Amino acid sequence: MCFVCLGNICRSPTAEGVMRHLVVRASLADSFLIDSAGTGAYHVGERADARSRAEASRRGVELSSRARQFKAEDYGRFDYVVAMDSSNHRHLERLAGGRAELARLFMLRTFEKNPRDLDVPDPYYGGERGFAKVYDIVERGCSGLLAHIRAEHRL
Ligand code: 4NP
Repeated sequence: MCFVCLGNICRSPTAEGVMRHLVVRASLADSFLIDSAGTGAYHVGERADARSRAEASRRGVELSSRARQFKAEDYGRFDYVVAMDSSNHRHLERLAGGRAELARLFMLRTFEKNPRDLDVPDPYYGGERGFAKVYDIVERGCSGLLAHIRAEHRL
């Protein structure tokens, strides 16, 4: 799976780190290829935002990603391309070559039980609390996504 946000420094690196943590805990690490990318290229090569890393670290999760831009070819490498918000989703729809790619495109929060909103809010220009909120939302979404995949693939 590949998680995708705008900059690939806040939301999708958090999802990547949380999902890695969840699959290790479930002893399923060998069954998954977990990555993240951004629709934009502004932060390519950068580590996750220090505020995202601090929040994850408080919860026992290290974020080790380097930002990269999502490319159309990534659809060939991942079964689940998971957008963090509807703007990312629209961008990814435009990059999809056809129905096979579109069938791999999801929104993270659709895997939450009772989502209040389908977007993971962009925390970049806000304060610390936004990062804690993003972490909570991402954790719920990733748990739901993992449960969905385990049920679908009998893992
Ligand atoms: P992300 O957050 O998409 O969650 O990585 C952002 C990071 C940087 C910018 C916007 C959102 N930016 O405009 O530079």
